[in-house]
Amino acid sequence: MDILKYQLRSFEKIPVRIYEDNLEASKNVAKSISLTIRQKQQEGEYMVLGLATGSTPVKVYDELIRMHKKEGLSFKNVITFNLDEYYPMKKDDDQSYWKFMHENLFDHIDIDPKNIHIPNGEIPIEYVEEYCREYEEKIDALGGIDIQLLGIGRTGHIGFNEPGSWDSSRTRLVKLDHLTRQDATKSFISEEKVPYRAITMGIDTIMKAKTIYIMAFGQQKAEIVARTVEGQISSSCPATYLQKHPNTRFLVDSSAANDLTQIKTPWSVGLVNWNDELICRAIVWLAQKVGKPILKLTDEDYNTNGLSDLILEYDTAYNINIRIFNRLQHTITGWPGGKPNADDSQRPERAKPGKKRVVIFSPHPDDDVISMGGTFIRLVEQGHDVHVAYQTSGNIAVHDHDVKRFVEFIQDITHTYELDKEAVDKKYERIRNALKSKKGGEPDIALVREIKGMIRRGEARAGARIAGAKDDHIHFLDLPFYETGKVKKSPIGKEDISIIKEFLQEIKPHQIYAAGDLADPHGTHKVCLDAIFGACEQLKKESWFKDCWLWLYRGAWHEWGIDEIEMAVPLSPDEVLRKRMAIFMHQSQKDRAPFPGNDKREFWQRAEDRNSETANLYNELGLAEYEAMEAFVKWKFETNSLK
Ligand code: F6R
Repeated sequence: MDILKYQLRSFEKIPVRIYEDNLEASKNVAKSISLTIRQKQQEGEYMVLGLATGSTPVKVYDELIRMHKKEGLSFKNVITFNLDEYYPMKKDDDQSYWKFMHENLFDHIDIDPKNIHIPNGEIPIEYVEEYCREYEEKIDALGGIDIQLLGIGRTGHIGFNEPGSWDSSRTRLVKLDHLTRQDATKSFISEEKVPYRAITMGIDTIMKAKTIYIMAFGQQKAEIVARTVEGQISSSCPATYLQKHPNTRFLVDSSAANDLTQIKTPWSVGLVNWNDELICRAIVWLAQKVGKPILKLTDEDYNTNGLSDLILEYDTAYNINIRIFNRLQHTITGWPGGKPNADDSQRPERAKPGKKRVVIFSPHPDDDVISMGGTFIRLVEQGHDVHVAYQTSGNIAVHDHDVKRFVEFIQDITHTYELDKEAVDKKYERIRNALKSKKGGEPDIALVREIKGMIRRGEARAGARIAGAKDDHIHFLDLPFYETGKVKKSPIGKEDISIIKEFLQEIKPHQIYAAGDLADPHGTHKVCLDAIFGACEQLKKESWFKDCWLWLYRGAWHEWGIDEIEMAVPLSPDEVLRKRMAIFMHQSQKDRAPFPGNDKREFWQRAEDRNSETANLYNELGLAEYEAMEAFVKWKFETNSLK
């Protein structure tokens, strides 16, 4: 390792490897597991593998299955021990880790079922202690775990060792942290259904593994990754105990690495190769640190905050300040579709053609108005031909009571106006019975899913109309990957890509807007974006496509970094209100959305907070004061890779 790299990493107490995405990281982990399995096979020995559940290791399991099917990797000599299981939990419950492991790995490989060990969530409470001791003894008797896979919770838990766990802890019954239960809501539908306890291997059990691969993907893990890797060892973040383990690797994607010092403020740990983006990030960081607008930063501010090499390169603070100030200034435009007949050399969008064909892709039926409602309004008002395309039906995120309400409304109409009562009553009966007999977490029957989809369609239409869209410019693509009826979706398929491709081929847009959650580990947004990338790849030779620009907005949870933003569209106070109205049309998502995530605010509040935060940041840096701003990044087909 050269000195520069060493300096940049000097804060890191666990070796970290940063990958472009979770697939690349997962393939590396799977490769390493397969090498150990094969080596042990040659030596005539068993390989003891510690496994984790959750969203993080899924692609490792996919790759192991692929290796089994395509490369003849056998698991006959593998003995597995899973980290944990909810308690109490029946094996065949949809949310059990037993079921998860079988569906995601064991059912697809040739492992001997008697070599599989998963903590048993069905053990009567009085036997749990003894059961845990035996679990531990079984691992010890086999000479310990060869490779242990770990994910990390936002509390810093590994396994279910929540804050407060001691390094001497062994397999035991534990209480789940509030935040962990909130995070688990995505599989249990509602928080009340998430168990309060779990059986988990202890910290000591994990630390005895010979090799540990801990993985974390996505922006939501960035903070805990930095704390685990760079913070003090403490029981308040149990993953920090891994700093004492001699053979642990932390594998992260670029989003989960965002808060590491080597990424966030590399200049504070050593020399860096400056480029415009990095200079911009450093100057924004400096301005915020010393509480001054950019144009008031002095040589002394640079020198006393570790940025003297920038002064060396650019001579004076003034030169750097003006350069970055202009860069930010040029991102601001009230003309997201380009300003007709204006000099566009310093504007984010081209002036020509003056009237553009625009496609706004919305992964769920409300992302368009939540993430870019103001820009949507402006594009329509500035005379562009704006189409909006809802990529998925969003049908799992509708409460059952909304279905009843809408179907009863139809029933009322048919009864009042004496329409075909019998047919409607029959359908209603089917729906009512299906909802009544549905167990927690079970998928809806097709008819109920269809109605839930219709409810969201109606809301999407109403929202898009408030933004000014014409009725025949509102499209519903209902991509098939989404239609599993479950939280877990199918992988992207050829059909998803060709639906997008055909749609684009028909419109031939000059501008595409899409949700750019590039590193969202398992979400619908990433698959929707991949479908767009897949279609663009197939369309890139078309003449119209050569003149098509792709702008990415961020999903509901997170905004682009200020150094990344390439177009910032200001909203007036009235536009903010109109955008709010458009979001309000999504009534099934209001007050208590079925999948609210970990944020207590409603979607319109999140959108407004985020847009005013961006505007405030620009203003604090010395740029004009706006009410709110929506932000976009341009996808560069030539240099960014299509995944
Ligand atoms: C799962 C486990 C947990 C998860 C962690 C991260 O067996 O022990 O520690 O690894 O909660 O979960 P995901 O991967 O869903 O973010």
